[in-house]
Amino acid sequence: MHYLSQRIAYLFFATAMLLFSLQLVYGLLMAQAHMGWDGLHPWVPFNVMRPVHMNLLLMWLLAGFMGASYYLVPEEVKRPIVLPWVALVQWAAFVAVGVTAIVGFHFQWWEGRKFLEIPRPLDWLVVADLVLFLLVIGATLWRAERRTGTVLVLYFGLLSAAGFYLFGMIDTVHPTVDSFWRWWVVHLWVEGVWELIMGALLAFLLLRLTGVDREIIEKWLYVVVGLTFLSGVLGTGHHYYWIGTPDYWLWIGAIFSALEPLAFLGMAVWAVAMMRRGGRRHPNRMALMWTVGAAIMSFVGAGFLGFAHTLPQVNRFTHGTLITAMHGHLAFWGAYAMIVLAIITYAMPQMTGRAIYRNWTQHYAFWASNIGIVAMTLALAVAGIAQVYLERMAGMDFLVVQREIEWHFFGMLLAALLLVSGVAAYVVDFIRYGLPVSDLSELPEPDLDAAHEGGAQPVTRGGAVGYGDRLVGRDPA
Ligand code: HEM
Ligand code: HEM
Ligand SMILES: [Fe+2]
Repeated sequence: MHYLSQRIAYLFFATAMLLFSLQLVYGLLMAQAHMGWDGLHPWVPFNVMRPVHMNLLLMWLLAGFMGASYYLVPEEVKRPIVLPWVALVQWAAFVAVGVTAIVGFHFQWWEGRKFLEIPRPLDWLVVADLVLFLLVIGATLWRAERRTGTVLVLYFGLLSAAGFYLFGMIDTVHPTVDSFWRWWVVHLWVEGVWELIMGALLAFLLLRLTGVDREIIEKWLYVVVGLTFLSGVLGTGHHYYWIGTPDYWLWIGAIFSALEPLAFLGMAVWAVAMMRRGGRRHPNRMALMWTVGAAIMSFVGAGFLGFAHTLPQVNRFTHGTLITAMHGHLAFWGAYAMIVLAIITYAMPQMTGRAIYRNWTQHYAFWASNIGIVAMTLALAVAGIAQVYLERMAGMDFLVVQREIEWHFFGMLLAALLLVSGVAAYVVDFIRYGLPVSDLSELPEPDLDAAHEGGAQPVTRGGAVGYGDRLVGRDPA
């Protein structure tokens, strides 16, 4: 950390940890309801739990992206955040809108459109908050003397994410038209502009953790951005197969969405190649594991499992079943949850001067959460295949089938508990890091950023080896 204003990131990261934990609580309750134990139904029915679970996910990921921006933009452009008090207001407003939305859902105050449940008046507040955020980051970039490709891609991703949100606010009366625009947010976020955010975060982390030259890392970033645009935009067509749009979407959707895994494959190859090139000698190995893990798991969850049901010949059977939920879990986890956890793992030692990444709990958090979510995905896959067979092929009634597959959710619950234990370890370590320092001289020297710019000279200090990074050698007392 070079500037005290970067500490704003901490508030967003702490918010993300809290919302993530709550998201998992709602997930466990839903898995239980799927098993037939729906005792909470009179107070919190399944149709409340589901949007709460999913909106908490979106909120904590957005909090993570915002925190990441407040942390890395100053590092990249070498100047503090402009108007940090506005950033504080923006954080408070974000929390206020989020809490209102989640509480409101419990009283069925919502729009009822999957992922875009937030009611219209709150939508406007979301937009106002995003504008505030973009203004602070934008002004910081504007005032800076240097702007890197990484921050420009990040800013473009954030700006377009805010812009696309507006398409979900178009007033419509026809369900086909409504669905058409909904995908401009849901699909074009996760398979478009969020990929730019992910690419930029990956680039930043790879730069810092592997020490490979900026030129090489950013060249790859542009390749990934190019692949995303090539495939993701018209790939939206894979949601237009059955909603009442013209038939040509069957072809367009199939061809372009089948190309989408290339962007995720690109990210995985990029991360692994940079790790090998730079060596794994940065002391914060956990951050590198989350970073490279994100690139690999996003390929598995989004690329591979997305492709598995993207062709119309398959999707006509799997559409809207637990196969979708199977893919949704691993895709969101690999691409976005893991990259946010990666940046937090990287930033916390830098902000607090503590090196908790050497603890065994950090390894436990990584492996238990990853094995847990993969096992959950498998349980959902088996449940989903059974559902497709019984409901879509044998023609059984939806609710009868739900009863048939209750047992699979027992397996899912066990896997989920492993994931929860991993996330709990992560959150406990996050708390143990404590607050960011209030005086930069408390952080260990030297600042090795200059070495990095000059082409990655490995430097050792206190037994740790690092490239282009401030080394953090202090262990917790
Ligand atoms: C304790 C762990 C978790 C459990 C038990 C759990 C369980 C569930 C259940 C039962 C559903 C509803 C499936 C349905 O009937 O439609 C669901 C939906 C969803 N969950 Fe989770 N979840 C957990 C963690 C997560 C995590 C960590 C993520 C993201 C990284 C996530 C993302 C989602 C998404 C995106 C959906 C909506 C899927 C769709 O579009 O159909 N969940 N979850
Ligand atoms: C990180 C990237 C991705 C994330 C987070 C993600 C997540 C999701 C989620 C949550 C849904 C359910 C949406 C809803 O019903 O509202 C979904 C649907 C879908 N995704 Fe993805 N996805 C990603 C990438 C991909 C890719 C690359 C492909 C194709 C290669 C793909 C193919 C599909 C298809 C075909 C559906 C529709 C499923 C249905 O018909 O019910 N996804 N995705
Ligand atoms: Fe999509």
